[in-house]
Amino acid sequence: MKKIIITIDGYSSCGKSTLAKQLAKKLDYVYIDSGAMYRAITLYFLQNRVDWASQPAVVAALADIHLEFEYNPVSGASEMHLNGENVEHMIREMLVAEKVSEVAAVKEVREFAVAQQKKMGARKGIVMDGRDIGTVVFPHAELKIFMTADIAIRVERRFRELYEKNKNITIEEVKENLELRDYIDANREISPLRKAEDAIILDNSQLSREDQMDLVMQWVEDATLAHTP
Ligand code: CDP
Ligand code: CDP
Repeated sequence: MKKIIITIDGYSSCGKSTLAKQLAKKLDYVYIDSGAMYRAITLYFLQNRVDWASQPAVVAALADIHLEFEYNPVSGASEMHLNGENVEHMIREMLVAEKVSEVAAVKEVREFAVAQQKKMGARKGIVMDGRDIGTVVFPHAELKIFMTADIAIRVERRFRELYEKNKNITIEEVKENLELRDYIDANREISPLRKAEDAIILDNSQLSREDQMDLVMQWVEDATLAHTP
């Protein structure tokens, strides 16, 4: 079977990475969580007190940043490494979530991340999730999915996930963060979050992970056949 590029964009916490991971496993594709790259850059900026409003400061900092996804056989997932350190857990914390959309709106940051993401797709057989993957990173991808789900459902899902690690987290805090990020992501000047014209909308508010997977596997089959000479 020919390998294709699958892009999954959409609002925060609607299940993009859950679906992307499932698909990559089933198809034996590479999964890339583009959001992890923006989160790792944000972590570096916070740790090193980089002022992201200053272009020279951003350019100098980016020259010091090396990002790598490394497969962890124990978790069965690829994890983000920042300058050789596994930062997978740290980048999921609220401290990073609170600032990531501001950092991701900076032109130089986007250019830095997008250039690396484009290279990752060179051999196809990739599922990448994010905000601008179908519009900017892989505008010619064979299958583009735009995910969405009711805000209350998304908040509940993300709250459950964060609460497992931090019992002090509140549902209001999570809701505020998701709404703020969605707003900044959809309204920024450079590559705002929007549905690519040829993307298929997937609203998974009422779909189980299994039903969702069945539906999307059909789309994958159709897209693969349509692009097989
Ligand atoms: O929390 P969630 O998994 O929904 O977000 P994420 O995919 O980890 O992405 C974190 C943030 O990175 C987003 O809110 C965006 O600000 C930014 N991002 C982006 O600008 N472009 C991408 N392709 C991916 C993420
Ligand atoms: O990548 P994105 O931010 O869009 O979402 P995610 O990290 O895949 O999913 C956010 C949370 O929702 C995770 O805890 C998932 O396990 C959960 N989830 C769910 O409960 N039902 C789904 N159909 C998809 C995800």
